[in-house]
Amino acid sequence: MITALDHIAIAVPELETAVARFLGDFGLQYDGDEVVEAEKTATAFFSVPATHIELVAPLEGTGPIASYLEKRGGGLHHLCFRTDDIDADVVRLRDKGYQFIGDNPSPGAHGARVIFIHPKSCGGVLIELSQPAEGVA
Ligand code: CO
Repeated sequence: MITALDHIAIAVPELETAVARFLGDFGLQYDGDEVVEAEKTATAFFSVPATHIELVAPLEGTGPIASYLEKRGGGLHHLCFRTDDIDADVVRLRDKGYQFIGDNPSPGAHGARVIFIHPKSCGGVLIELSQPAEGVA
């Protein structure tokens, strides 16, 4: 029985820049790093509160997910960070040089306002910011 999402692993060229992003830019709680000698791998961990898994599929055979599947096949598509002030975070991250897909947040699932950071400005990872609708946890 699966009880929790333990972690999501992102391959990065080196830890320092990526740690700065997730700690400094996204403000996640840094739990430290560890070398796994046997795997010739350096790791760093961050804690995030309980999360969800979202499956995303093309609607009526078109749209961004259809293009994604055509180009890259299925797999990990994006990480979504919840925010309590999406407009402020967009301004803050734009100032740091992040490029967003679209100018402003748009409607997402569950009435949330969402916007995506272009993977080109985020180490190849598509990041979504989501501000839940009032009253939705
Ligand atoms: Co999403």
